[in-house]
Amino acid sequence: MEERESTKILIADDDKLFIRITTDMLEKMGYLCVTAEDGLSALEMAGREKPDIILLDVVMPGLDGFEVVRRLKENIETAHIPIILVTILSDRNSRIRGLSAGADELLSKPVDETELGVRIKNLLKIKRYEDYLVKHGRFLESMVRDKTLELKEAYEKTRNAYMDTIYKLSLAVEYRDRETGNHIKRISIFSRILARQLGLSEKKVEEIFFASPMHDIGKIGIPDSILLKPASLTEEEFETMKTHTTIGARILHGSDSEIVRTAEAIALTHHENWDGSGYPQGLKGEDIPLSGRIVHIVDVYDAARSKRPYRKERHTHEETLMIIKDMERVFDPKVFDAFFECEEVFRRLYDENEGGEPISIA
Ligand SMILES: [Fe+2]
Repeated sequence: MEERESTKILIADDDKLFIRITTDMLEKMGYLCVTAEDGLSALEMAGREKPDIILLDVVMPGLDGFEVVRRLKENIETAHIPIILVTILSDRNSRIRGLSAGADELLSKPVDETELGVRIKNLLKIKRYEDYLVKHGRFLESMVRDKTLELKEAYEKTRNAYMDTIYKLSLAVEYRDRETGNHIKRISIFSRILARQLGLSEKKVEEIFFASPMHDIGKIGIPDSILLKPASLTEEEFETMKTHTTIGARILHGSDSEIVRTAEAIALTHHENWDGSGYPQGLKGEDIPLSGRIVHIVDVYDAARSKRPYRKERHTHEETLMIIKDMERVFDPKVFDAFFECEEVFRRLYDENEGGEPISIA
């Protein structure tokens, strides 16, 4: 009974007598009734009162019952309300038309009280299930939203932790000849800027961003006497220094990760020259992976602007641009042009992130 008192039924009919009789019947059953005497009022009342069920006459002035059903079912606010279409039209076509318009039940006039009670109870049962499903669906949607947000945050944390691990490991390797990790971070950031300037996909840009800090990881295998030598290297020492490329590639070799595979390519080829005069393989042109060509120019820029064990002075941004121009033949022309398109960003980021550390790029 308590449940019925909160159940509201809209009765729409231009026949005042029918409204009075039906209202009496339903109120006796414990339902609350609201009424409308034409199609438009029924639509307006359904939107405002949010009834649990609508009892709708087919033949009404203005909009007929079929049209009212159609409009109620089209409106997202009222589409879920069960509709009983009441009609004196008992022919098959009218019944099919009513059901096609979206009515949930059909009743013939005069309405039988028992039948009306049973129909309403059944429809309410279905509506309760539907309401539950809608509510549950909303709950699931909000759960998915929350979980998606959690996953995004977890991804960000993992990504940052991954990047931090790369920085720390790369720094551990370079600890002997560099005082801070700023060089590694700058290489990463500069490489990303250049990769974007070249129009690479965001996936490739990210790969290069994560992979480039590991470019000199092979220096772990270079003796201190060579790595920290405060003077130019002899030919033999330089040959040893060159092996940091192949050592790095060996360390990074065999990974399933696209990032580590890119890191392997960068470690191996970041000293290769476009004209074939680089090392370790003397690769030429596009035989050198693009990631290696990008890190090459970035590494030269950052090294020229930083101190090195055998050269205490460092170059200004303008001097570094001249050095790079003089070396033009060793760089991929596309990468070279892209670098000069965004060299101002390099200047700003270097000035903001310099650590004054001694840097050796070998
Ligand atoms: Fe290197």
